[in-house]
Amino acid sequence: MKTRSPASATALVGLQFGDEGKGKLVDWFAEQFGLIIRYNGGANAGHTVQNALGTFKLHLVPSGIFTNGAQCFLGNGAVVDPEQLVLELGALREAGIDTRGFFLSSKAHLVMPWHKVEDVLFDKARGKDAIGTTGRGIGPCYVDKVNRCGIRVGTLLDQRMLRERVHVAYTTKVHALRRQFPTVDFTIPKEDAIIAQLQKSTETLGEYIANTDVLARIAWKNGTRILLEAAQATMIDLEFGTYPYVTSSLATSAGACSGSGLPPTAIESVVGVAKAYTTRVGNGPFPTELFDESGETLRAAGQEFGTTTGRPRRCGWFDAPLVRYACNVNGADKVFLTKLDVLSALPSLRICVAYDFRGEIRIAPPGPQEPYEEFTPVYEDLPGWHTPIAGVTSWDALPDAAKRYVDRIEEMIGVPVATVATGPAREHIIVR
Ligand code: IMP
Repeated sequence: MKTRSPASATALVGLQFGDEGKGKLVDWFAEQFGLIIRYNGGANAGHTVQNALGTFKLHLVPSGIFTNGAQCFLGNGAVVDPEQLVLELGALREAGIDTRGFFLSSKAHLVMPWHKVEDVLFDKARGKDAIGTTGRGIGPCYVDKVNRCGIRVGTLLDQRMLRERVHVAYTTKVHALRRQFPTVDFTIPKEDAIIAQLQKSTETLGEYIANTDVLARIAWKNGTRILLEAAQATMIDLEFGTYPYVTSSLATSAGACSGSGLPPTAIESVVGVAKAYTTRVGNGPFPTELFDESGETLRAAGQEFGTTTGRPRRCGWFDAPLVRYACNVNGADKVFLTKLDVLSALPSLRICVAYDFRGEIRIAPPGPQEPYEEFTPVYEDLPGWHTPIAGVTSWDALPDAAKRYVDRIEEMIGVPVATVATGPAREHIIVR
């Protein structure tokens, strides 16, 4: 009879619209794990990690790469821009980071040059309904995956297969694009140039390509503690986010299994990461968005500019119904709250505790048939703390108003806030 291996995996997910500071937390948290697997998304993600080794902006390599001795996988649920990955691994090695523990799933899909062109052209064609994508080819790459005409990373290892697949995709895609956008001047390299570039990338990437899902299951059976690292977040998740203003991958804890190859029985805990206020980059609903000076103050104090595109992030108050919904979707059993120190910049604070929808009080975000624009936040006002708290590492050292703010969030979302981050560095964290 088979005995079941004990669950030893923790999923770490974003609870808002992305950019919650997951990179920093993975860097800090990863020390407790022997294997870290990033399971979704592609180079649309931007994780900033600041530690004793320097400041790093990661797009594809898991933020756990700085943990000595740990293995780091980019799982099958991710989409990979090979040139970007080569650059990223090169920059890490140049900074003296050991990348030998990194492995790339042979089942992940390749972002091809036409995907990036499609991404930009299709989003532009949406006009006023544009999603505001990062332009990294993510949506079109996942479309091809689902349409069963994508090219997987493992193909890089077989020259004949690579040529065949690129040829079929190139002829269909590039011709279709030229037909669909006859008046637009776009550039896609020639087929031979694309193959040559892929071969060049393979010289670096070849040694990292592996059956990471098989390796992940072996590690789990052997009792290795595993961290499943999400990119993006619940409210821009393909299934549970503010569709269609979402990304094209599965960013919730449900995606942690399909994107890594671990079965659901391997997961013992889900950590949700939320910012102490809300930000969003790109278009789409944002009930608590601020259009006044407070929003500007948050953007400046929190350095709220996209890591991937440099776009200014939209800023607003903490939205408790939204984060509670995200906790429920993910089954979060603890929450890591980030950037509490940024709120020192504001004299008084607000938390959205419910929405008013046509005179009716709602405590959950709208369904797809209900217009988000008609969900007006109902706010609770809280005092600010008028003092800098950047770098504070003990709960007791926080001003009472800051403690009250965190306690109130905890009450509203119904999940314990286990840590509070007070600055960008690894050690700027309060463990409660
Ligand atoms: P895409 O993922 O490039 O297709 O973009 C779809 C939407 O998700 C856009 O609104 C992007 O701004 C947003 N998005 C994608 N990745 C991230 C991220 O890592 N952080 C925050 N927003 C993101």
